[in-house]
Amino acid sequence: MAARTVAVVLAGGVGERMGAGRPKQLIEVGGRPILAHAVGAFDAHPGVDEVVVVMAAGHLRDAAAIAAPFGKTAAVIEGGDTRTASTVAALRVLDGRPDDVRVLFHDAARPFVDRPVIDRVLAALDEHEAVAVGVPSSDTVVVVDGGVVASMPPRETLTRFQTPQGFRLGTIRKAYELALADPALRATDDCGIVHRYLPDVPIRVVEGSERNLKVTQPLDAVLAEHLATEVTP
Ligand code: CTP
Ligand code: MG
Repeated sequence: MAARTVAVVLAGGVGERMGAGRPKQLIEVGGRPILAHAVGAFDAHPGVDEVVVVMAAGHLRDAAAIAAPFGKTAAVIEGGDTRTASTVAALRVLDGRPDDVRVLFHDAARPFVDRPVIDRVLAALDEHEAVAVGVPSSDTVVVVDGGVVASMPPRETLTRFQTPQGFRLGTIRKAYELALADPALRATDDCGIVHRYLPDVPIRVVEGSERNLKVTQPLDAVLAEHLATEVTP
């Protein structure tokens, strides 16, 4: 039997930059909460067996109500103060599962992840232990130090990361074990943890989608509403 695939939808943040007075994943776009869009995308994917939702403390009931109608919802759990802590909470749920289980970590704040993107991550996971989703940067990105340009990496080498990020469970478990033993731990995403603590593991990057935006600031909610209601993708 093929290894099982678990999608973890990370909704443990409170959406400070959005400033909506409640976690941004509870805001409705196209008539459904952002969280419902994200969970629904994985629930509908034939390659995904289970969905685990990690929710901000104090909002578990909302998350459970949103996730319950989806048949693949396996657990709705409380996250931590940082995205890393929320990921660790999800890994605890998967304690005891075999190393070859495939786990996808997705930002709940990305409601428009679609089947082709998930397909590409799952296909790449057949060959690789860690997979990221990226889109080319259309802006020039520079390193600024003290208000002046310190360096200008060539634009064609720069990629903006999205989610889902996919891993063999054994690999991400090992990376977090090492990370949690490091008092200087810092990272913004799960590939960052693998890159830092398992530097010999190549992280395969597959093509993302401009539609797979992360709703972060009020302007993104306007864009998301538009994307949720447009007729043609
Ligand atoms: N996340 C999480 N647990 C945290 C922090 C973030 O699961 N403690 C999740 C968010 O819910 C989101 C994703 O990680 O789906 C990306 O984080 P971000 O866009 O930064 O969301 P927030 O942390 O909620 O927003 P902000 O940083 O503006 O407060
Ligand atoms: Mg955040």
